[in-house]
Amino acid sequence: MGLIDLHVHLLPGVDDGPATPDEALAMCRLAGADGSETLVVTPHQRHELWPNDDRGALQRAFEALQAAVGPSPGLVLGAELRVDSEILVEVDALPGGSLLSLAGSRYLLLEFPSLPGGAEPVDIVHELRIAGWWPVVAHPERIPWLAEDPERLIELAERGALFQLTAMSVTGDFGRRAQACCALLIDEAIAHFVASDAHNATRRAPRLSTAFRAVAGGWGEQTARRLFVDNPAAVLADRPLPAV
Ligand SMILES: [Fe+2]
Repeated sequence: MGLIDLHVHLLPGVDDGPATPDEALAMCRLAGADGSETLVVTPHQRHELWPNDDRGALQRAFEALQAAVGPSPGLVLGAELRVDSEILVEVDALPGGSLLSLAGSRYLLLEFPSLPGGAEPVDIVHELRIAGWWPVVAHPERIPWLAEDPERLIELAERGALFQLTAMSVTGDFGRRAQACCALLIDEAIAHFVASDAHNATRRAPRLSTAFRAVAGGWGEQTARRLFVDNPAAVLADRPLPAV
């Protein structure tokens, strides 16, 4: 069964992902050997350190990587969009603006800042849903002000937010608190995806198989399939997530 990794930093030199094309290639080989069939390449965009507002440059870097990797694992382009109060204006300019959705779909991978006080996520999610987008909140379990506020997470899910957990949080590599938040979201059936959020070929590597086994062991094979295969496949196909 081919796993699908929705969140990987793979373009060399554009953010805090791999520094060189060789490292990016090594990450792709590692992901393929670990069972990933498709990787969505998600460079940071709108981040203060890595704005990456030249979409054409990202596209060219992506094509160069794809040519080096060959047919397997499959690569598609997306981005991880830093959220602030201005994001709605820029999303309005899609398609044709500077921002990238996940694989050209209606799904947007959103990175909320690690400190509270910026844009209110409930409002952002609400506005994006009205505009026809499916907002995917990247790793809520690693954002303390979200992770510590289960009621807000549940409200966000009710408003249409989708949650992407990070594989290393699920396995406990990012500590007990992140792992407990993942367990809560899976228990409540409001976890939608598990992705690697890999940045390199060593400590933050694109491995999903260990987390897949952890979810299958704790919640059953069907839940694991949904989070690692079926839901991500719906993103690639630009379809709504399958009903639970
Ligand atoms: Fe990321």
